[in-house]
Amino acid sequence: MQIVRDVETLREKIAALRADGGTIAFVPTMGALHAGHMALVAEAKRRASHVVASIFVNPTQFGPGEDLSTYPRREASDAAMLEAEGVAILWSPDVATMYPDGARATMRAGSAAGGLDGAARPGHFDGVVTVVARLFDQVAPDVALFGEKDYQQLAVIRQMVGELRLSIEIVGVPTQRDADGVALSSRNAYLSEDERLAARNLPRALGEAAQSIMAGSDVSGALAAVKERLTKAGFEPVDYVELRDAETLAPLAALDRPARLLAAARIGRTRLIDNLQVAPPKA
Ligand code: PAJ
Repeated sequence: MQIVRDVETLREKIAALRADGGTIAFVPTMGALHAGHMALVAEAKRRASHVVASIFVNPTQFGPGEDLSTYPRREASDAAMLEAEGVAILWSPDVATMYPDGARATMRAGSAAGGLDGAARPGHFDGVVTVVARLFDQVAPDVALFGEKDYQQLAVIRQMVGELRLSIEIVGVPTQRDADGVALSSRNAYLSEDERLAARNLPRALGEAAQSIMAGSDVSGALAAVKERLTKAGFEPVDYVELRDAETLAPLAALDRPARLLAAARIGRTRLIDNLQVAPPKA
């Protein structure tokens, strides 16, 4: 695996991979890799002849007071994991390479960024589309993979690719979880032992609410029950618990189409997000 840090070398190496007619699958990350990221790499291998991964802790998607300075950074062990999985190129630019004019978001995310994390983290998805558009331009992949763990991010990227008419296929990969049900996340490293125990309530509460909504319960009652359980377990604040259209992320009051149940809440200093599919009753 080649670790590349400048755009010119990246373009040369990618042209070389393409020389034999090979296709490229791209997995963008912020590093501190875990089995969730590696599921994206595994799916990438199935989708193209070569896999390019990136590690870039993107300053423009962090708000003031968020964890940019403490975000875990461990490139050497990340690189070893990617190499072991047969990744061809690790693109690992620094901030000046990615943002020669200074770290500002220069693109605006579309309507899929409305509400949910878009409301709780103002400017976050502008930073995400800014960096992902640049990464797409640099890597020029055939296919790019994103986790359903960040479901709104996946919707925002799909919308961006549609609006820019990019010929990049976007593939969503199901959320990978630990044995206790908690979604794998680089930020789980911040949790104390007690917080980690409390964190189980997030996937469990969402699972129970999804079941009860699918069984015909009132949606707002089920959402309120999730909030109550999270608050009792020590989450503060609960940023949102919402049922949305699975495709457009438009708000949904009743289960009349495929839906997604999404939540975000803070436990101690760690903000956790999770989401589950909610299928409508068969007609
Ligand atoms: P990061 O948080 O490092 O995540 C990189 C990719 O891994 C994202 O597509 C994310 O959804 C996926 N991922 C994380 N945890 C997962 C899990 N438990 N199961 C499945 N997939 C998981 O998301 C970002 O970085 C950034 O916003 C980025 C897209 C790289 C732009 O900076």
